Amino acid sequence: MSVDARRAIDDAAYVLRAADVPNAKREVTLLLAHVLGEDTGFLYREPERLLTAQQKEKFDNLVERRSAREPLSHLTGHREFWSLDFLVTADVLDPRADSETLIEAALLRCKDVLQPRRILDLGTGSGCLLLSLLSELPEASGVGIDKSEAAIAIARENAHRLEMDERAEFALGNWGRERDEKFDLVISNPPYIPNGDIAGLQPEVRDYEPHLALVGGSDGLDCYREILFDIRSLLRPGGLLIFEVGVGQAPEVGRMMQSAGISRIEYHRDLASIERCVSGLLAR
Ligand SMILES: C[S@@+](CC[C@H](N)C(=O)[O-])C[C@H]1O[C@@H](n2cnc3c(N)ncnc32)[C@H](O)[C@@H]1O
Repeated sequence: MSVDARRAIDDAAYVLRAADVPNAKREVTLLLAHVLGEDTGFLYREPERLLTAQQKEKFDNLVERRSAREPLSHLTGHREFWSLDFLVTADVLDPRADSETLIEAALLRCKDVLQPRRILDLGTGSGCLLLSLLSELPEASGVGIDKSEAAIAIARENAHRLEMDERAEFALGNWGRERDEKFDLVISNPPYIPNGDIAGLQPEVRDYEPHLALVGGSDGLDCYREILFDIRSLLRPGGLLIFEVGVGQAPEVGRMMQSAGISRIEYHRDLASIERCVSGLLAR
């Protein structure tokens, strides 16, 4: 029996609610829009559109995977970040809306460093931070580093799709260890979840996202220590450093930055008013 879009959405939302998936109706609407190759407005325009057997089978399969808590972005292969469309797979962190705070902080503080020309993104993942910043700073170019070869491949593909491959280079590396260039701006959203907190994460994160993108050592701060150890060889004097941090980590990361020679520290809050980023300038 044929099913129309509205009925398919109502039935699927029931399945997701039973699996404790938040925002069930919105998620199934996005999944059906993906299957039909439409925007989500189609539900209002054509709620009675009948699904073909093939569309219904594909939709049911995605709903089943989502009810097993596979992230929405892995099912659609996309995530919007800073109003840009990024390819996302299980090899990269699903870009978080909270991380847009880093872009805002960078644009705000760029006034201090007079138009950054060269940007270094440590732990680039999908490339979302570097590419979003480059979209706002047409004169700039940058390098994104990751320890995951698969992530580098996705970041390169995103740069190509967003037509920024001439300004964005992506390379495999252990933070900035092998770089012999000093940048105007260094950004990083490193893994910051304490080892002991991983088991308590929501299933979408714990079971499907790469642990290399999550685990930050016993107190969650190991990667900040590693990056700050090398910061003088990566940032030009007067250059700007911005870290994203986990909930409650901002004061300690700010102290660590000061000990590494970073001054004029500022804290930046996300939409939930959580201190999400810490920025500062390398003393001249
Ligand atoms: C929290 S994710 C951030 C990804 C992306 N920048 C974002 O904001 O969505 C951290 C990234 O750091 C990478 N990473 C972990 N250890 C690393 C290391 N030693 N050197 C370079 N990258 C590393 C992970 O592979 C992962 O892509």
